[in-house]
Amino acid sequence: MTDWDELWQKNETPWDKGYGAPPLTEYLEVAGDELRHARRVLVPGCGSGHDVRELAARGIGATGLDLSETAIARARAHAPAGNEDYVCGSLFDAEWRIGREFGAVWEHTCFCAIDPSMRPAYARAISEILMPGGHLVGLFFLTPWDPGEEAVGPPFASSREEIVSLFSPWFELRGERVPGRAYPGREGREWLAVFERRNRANPGVAE
Ligand SMILES: C[S@@+](CC[C@H](N)C(=O)[O-])C[C@H]1O[C@@H](n2cnc3c(N)ncnc32)[C@H](O)[C@@H]1O
Repeated sequence: MTDWDELWQKNETPWDKGYGAPPLTEYLEVAGDELRHARRVLVPGCGSGHDVRELAARGIGATGLDLSETAIARARAHAPAGNEDYVCGSLFDAEWRIGREFGAVWEHTCFCAIDPSMRPAYARAISEILMPGGHLVGLFFLTPWDPGEEAVGPPFASSREEIVSLFSPWFELRGERVPGRAYPGREGREWLAVFERRNRANPGVAE
């Protein structure tokens, strides 16, 4: 198992580029309604909070969640960009969720960071966190490894089909695109998907 806090303490954080994800900026510029109109956006695995501040700077209320105390301390050390806050906890732990409800989730490099055996639990957790009609806007890092490269995750690869299948018990896929912008080296390796949480009252829907 990855000791995320140790990685943060040792500054072994190659994923932290010092600014928000370019596909998030692009999405907010060309579309963005699912996040812009949400009551509050959860950013699971927020690290030092670049995406949280990108959202907050645009007037979107956002909460960053990370299980690393060091990451959360670094996020909190930044000057506030708007209406953002940070919580230390695991996405799989129900405690931090008490009293909190989110209209949207921005996923970026949390899904690919967790062990693939935890992906069904990830999908269920997101389904429980989101209010009906809420959105998961996910930037999925599908192919972190080149063909033939020794693929030792994290990050762990995934596929569009796997992700759609994982979320299908609770979510409808409403939109998808390959982002036009990316961090250097991630061009063409990511997939941006917008899922909508079905109404819990819908019969026949897994809960
Ligand atoms: C690859 S890093 C990405 C951080 C940030 N999204 C970024 O791109 O800069 C993955 C982050 O997810 C956090 N994380 C891993 N498992 C988690 C869990 N179960 N709940 C909350 N955060 C988690 C780690 O501590 C780490 O900060």
